[in-house]
Amino acid sequence: MNAASISYVPRSRHVFLLATTVILHFCVAGIWIQGEYQIQQQWTTTNRPSNNSEVSKERLNDVLPTTSHKFIYPKEPDTVLSGSENDACIARQDVLWKMAIFIKSSAKNFKRREFLRRSWASYRFVQDGMIQTIFVVGNATDPTTDQLLNDEFMRYKDILQYSGPDDYRNISLKTLAGMQWCSQNYKDVDFYTSGDDDFLIDLVAMRNTLVEFRETTIKNRWPEYPIICMYEKRQNTRPHRHKDKWHVPIEEYKWPMWPDFCLGGFYTMSVNVTIQLWDLAQVQKPVRMDDVWITGILRQQFGLPNVMLVVPGKKRTVAKHTVGFKNDKSKNLSGVVQKDWEKLKQNLQKITTCTVPQ
Ligand SMILES: *[C@@H]1O[C@H](CO)[C@@H](O)[C@H](O)[C@H]1NC(C)=O
Ligand SMILES: *[C@@H]1O[C@H](CO)[C@@H](O)[C@H](O)[C@H]1NC(C)=O
Ligand SMILES: *[C@@H]1O[C@H](CO)[C@@H](O)[C@H](O)[C@H]1NC(C)=O
Ligand SMILES: *[C@@H]1O[C@H](CO)[C@@H](O)[C@H](O)[C@H]1NC(C)=O
Ligand SMILES: *[C@@H]1O[C@H](CO)[C@@H](O)[C@H](O)[C@H]1NC(C)=O
Repeated sequence: MNAASISYVPRSRHVFLLATTVILHFCVAGIWIQGEYQIQQQWTTTNRPSNNSEVSKERLNDVLPTTSHKFIYPKEPDTVLSGSENDACIARQDVLWKMAIFIKSSAKNFKRREFLRRSWASYRFVQDGMIQTIFVVGNATDPTTDQLLNDEFMRYKDILQYSGPDDYRNISLKTLAGMQWCSQNYKDVDFYTSGDDDFLIDLVAMRNTLVEFRETTIKNRWPEYPIICMYEKRQNTRPHRHKDKWHVPIEEYKWPMWPDFCLGGFYTMSVNVTIQLWDLAQVQKPVRMDDVWITGILRQQFGLPNVMLVVPGKKRTVAKHTVGFKNDKSKNLSGVVQKDWEKLKQNLQKITTCTVPQ
């Protein structure tokens, strides 16, 4: 409606419109006041504890750990990053940085681990850095899986098993078990990475990203190396309140929004920060999604600001979710992933002379 059309409306209608508007305003205000009243009433009747002993009990539950996060490990990997290996290849390398990569895996995911060992996870060196990939699993749920896992461990010595649940719902404990092992065994290692077992990693892009953010850290005078969301960073997301796989009950996390966080597919931070976050986690109740809990909630409590939650440059893809390859209907899945890997491998071989025999 423009100015000209208004002038055609008779005066009496103007008065009518004005009256309706005023009445509507009152109605809306009334609803609003009633709504607030209801909220207040709810607050006084349900949310406020009725006496002091209840208050202190509630506070205690907030502060005291409900789970003891001290893990024991039936299987521990070789500590190759500590330089104990008497290997000519290692001696020859001019190593400027070291990284331990902890891949969360289910005890029964033998095939996924095997594919990673035949691809990027077999590499010990990327240009000027040394890396080690460690698979983190929980208790095997049946004797056959347990036996196969034992054989696998004896063969590769790249498995960290913690004595605890192996299922997805307890994935936070699995991640924490890796952080604890790293804090205890790899204090002198530079970087810690956490990832899933269905990702294809471009190690050259990863190395370049590390270097890029070392420069950023110095330039900005950040007191710590940032957390790099090598796969994806999430902002302004809400907890799932529907009853599905990702359902988070109010008692576990009451706020309407998550802090910014890295998706758990693949993210990196310094071991310095890992040790401090692990310390902090000792007195916290875990939130079931490990990525939100560690890179979002704990990170925020630690004080590491959003601006230090960084992502690789736009043209750089470090981590690819292999499940995403399923969208490619025309080809066979293992063929597609294999082809993608062949491409990455050519790039790697240009700069890396030492690999673990495959
Ligand atoms: C306070 O609450 C506790 C726990 O519900 C109850 O046992 C206690 O009797 C209450 N005390 C008073 C003074 O109401
Ligand atoms: C895992 O295994 C250990 C040792 O066999 C056992 O003590 C522990 O209760 C198990 N934990 C779970 C959650 O199954
Ligand atoms: C594992 O997850 C289940 C389901 O969320 C939970 O009931 C159980 O307490 C968790 N176990 C530990 C040791 O946290
Ligand atoms: C970790 O801390 C040590 C000592 O403060 C420092 O020399 C080192 O550069 C830090 N490493 C990283 C990757 O930030
Ligand atoms: C799928 O791809 C792999 C790797 O290229 C190949 O070995 C295999 O034969 C293919 N399978 C089918 C059913 O085409």
